[in-house]
Amino acid sequence: MNQIIEKIHTALAAAEQRLTAADAAEIEAVRIELAGRNGLFPALSKEMGSVPPEERREVGSAFNEGRRKLQELLDAARARLEERGSTAEQLDLTLPGRRRSMGHKHPVTRMIDECVAIFRRMGFTVAEGPEIEDVYHNFDALNTHADHPSRDPGDTFYFADGRILRTQTSPVQIRVMENHEPPVRIVAPGRVFRRDTPDATHGMNFHQIEGLYVDRGVSLADLKSVLQTFATEMYGPGAKIRLRPHFFPFTEPSVEYDFSCMMCGGKGCPVCKHSGFIEIAGAGMVDPAVLKNVGYDPEVWSGFAFGMGIERLAMLRYRIGDIRWLYENDVRFLEQF
Ligand code: DAH
Repeated sequence: MNQIIEKIHTALAAAEQRLTAADAAEIEAVRIELAGRNGLFPALSKEMGSVPPEERREVGSAFNEGRRKLQELLDAARARLEERGSTAEQLDLTLPGRRRSMGHKHPVTRMIDECVAIFRRMGFTVAEGPEIEDVYHNFDALNTHADHPSRDPGDTFYFADGRILRTQTSPVQIRVMENHEPPVRIVAPGRVFRRDTPDATHGMNFHQIEGLYVDRGVSLADLKSVLQTFATEMYGPGAKIRLRPHFFPFTEPSVEYDFSCMMCGGKGCPVCKHSGFIEIAGAGMVDPAVLKNVGYDPEVWSGFAFGMGIERLAMLRYRIGDIRWLYENDVRFLEQF
């Protein structure tokens, strides 16, 4: 067989091999080697002149057929490459986009933020204290009698070294007054701990927000107006408040205060046990003994304090029936707020 025809056949057989699973670069390399300016086919075309006349027709048609075949192989290789590429990407433009679900603040955190925002507008700043507290700040400095039941290890978590998990945010009052000269006007939100058996309205840890305002000539009327403003801002213009006499060691006089029931608007319903009011928290005028404990002169300074349960505020605001739901981390519940 003519040498030229033989070279064409060998080259095409090799090209076919190389192109079976070729990537784009390999396909281009084959094209250049065979059909490029300095490739095999242009070179053979120059050799045509030396082919004996009786063989020219056969060689010529083998040459043309070879070039056609090469083009076919290259086209097929490119088509295969394209198909592989698109299946690898698995790109389906008709699929809906992947939505990123945005988280949001926990209802307890939101309630703390809202309370703080309301009190800030009334000129309060935010103070914080430790969750692991000493007995002095949690009880003694707050004028709590040595026999007071809340000190009992059955009610309060004690560490071996005598420290405790704070049972209330009230010790922050003491820490602030120890470190600041009057006047002071702070709120202190935070976590507190009690040895309670959890039920629908009790948890072993929950949150409170404490308030303290000490200045010259602060009276119970100031306390009332601050609580009324808070109630209106939190529960709307129809919210009323009511103070009832009570006892706390660190305030004198002490009160418990109620807000008009946000479920029935004060008409009476099962939630407020038909009283029209819902108990919110404790408050009072800071006891002179407490002022003395922090080195304030009770003849010059007076003040009020209050403490409310955040979970309770949130449950009333969002109509949550069980405090434990706030801590189960069930997204189906939390998503609703
Ligand atoms: N610490 C009290 C409690 O946990 C609530 C409280 C009552 C705070 C009266 C106060 C207050 O600041 O004046 O039950």
